[in-house]
Amino acid sequence: MTEVTTIRVGGPTPYDVCVGAGVSTDVVRHTTGASVVAVARPAALAGFAAPVIAALSTGGHRAVEVDVPSGEDGKSLESLMTIWDALAAAGVGRGDAVVAVGGGATTDVVGFAAATWLRGVRVVQVPTTLLGMVDAAVGGKTAINTPAGKNLVGAFHPPAAVLVDLDTLETLPAGEWVNGMAEVVKAGFIADPRILELVEAAPGDARRPGGGDVRELVERAIRVKVDVVSADLRESGRREFLNYGHTLAHAIERVEHFRWPHGHAVSVGLVFAAALGRHAGRLDPATAERHRTVLDAVGLPTSYPDGDWAALREAMNVDKKSRGGMLRFVVLDGLATPGILDGPDEDLLRAAFAEVS
Ligand SMILES: NC(=O)c1ccc[n+]([C@@H]2O[C@H](COP(=O)([O-])OP(=O)(O)OC[C@H]3O[C@@H](n4cnc5c(N)ncnc54)[C@H](O)[C@@H]3O)[C@@H](O)[C@H]2O)c1
Repeated sequence: MTEVTTIRVGGPTPYDVCVGAGVSTDVVRHTTGASVVAVARPAALAGFAAPVIAALSTGGHRAVEVDVPSGEDGKSLESLMTIWDALAAAGVGRGDAVVAVGGGATTDVVGFAAATWLRGVRVVQVPTTLLGMVDAAVGGKTAINTPAGKNLVGAFHPPAAVLVDLDTLETLPAGEWVNGMAEVVKAGFIADPRILELVEAAPGDARRPGGGDVRELVERAIRVKVDVVSADLRESGRREFLNYGHTLAHAIERVEHFRWPHGHAVSVGLVFAAALGRHAGRLDPATAERHRTVLDAVGLPTSYPDGDWAALREAMNVDKKSRGGMLRFVVLDGLATPGILDGPDEDLLRAAFAEVS
């Protein structure tokens, strides 16, 4: 194992996010006292679960492998039932533990299974996508999808640890890397401009998994999320700033029936939010324009041509962030200075949308 960086997440149930190549074998440090450890992963990622299982076995645990459908298919009630059944069959008890190895979809459903099994057993998250590393696996939010919508059923269940094994990025498809970069860039704009400098210094590298200063990018993006969730476990106050760019993004995803990758929608949402801040007289034009150049450098879309504004506007109304009938946006008052814009004029919204359509 190479050098490991440990980032402490504060709050009522503190835990560590450990970043490093090969760090997933460190799992035994976080499963003390467990006799059975269920390791849940999509079949395609069994290779990343193997060293985890070997380490657990060497550490004296009975490791049981659990299959989870990959991607969003895994975030269903049926899949959750299958995981519960597997935990029952393996005899996972209160003092035992569950490990999730996979992308954000896997860490979400396996985290929720752990949150609900016996009213909550330990979970160690081993994210294997960039999005999982910098976002989904950190913060304790778990969820599944239902016919009524995405992530409507879930629980706050902070993990015992998050092991960010940089080795897993080697097989990540370029598209998945770019998808995750939207959240990394967002972290740069709301809190850590050094992230933007890293992307600007090596734009080509920022487009491929394992390229550029991956470790620094990943660590910095994680720190941004950790700083926020440590201060604010449940979604209010500062945690809301993590939704920068997400109000329009969620609307695009809904209008596109979730066929648009999340990162692409967030990218357009970030350019829109920057334009909104500028039109509201809060963000300077250069920083607003920087959104477009950085996202473009990463290979993310910065426009949504021929978008149906009426449909998007309607979709934004039902977004959970529209409270008390008023639309609410995270905007920037400057680089790394997020704030809230409540109930903007329709003209302002249309002007900002014109810049991405
Ligand atoms: N809980 C949270 O706070 C939170 C935050 C953001 C996103 N999410 C959730 O995360 C999910 C998206 O996560 P995602 O983008 O990681 O997608 P994903 O989990 O669907 O993974 C994408 C695909 O890549 C594969 N994959 C994963 N790691 C790989 C690797 N190292 N090499 C090769 N293939 C690999 C997966 O099996 C899957 O097919 C969504 O369901 C979203 O709701 C949750």
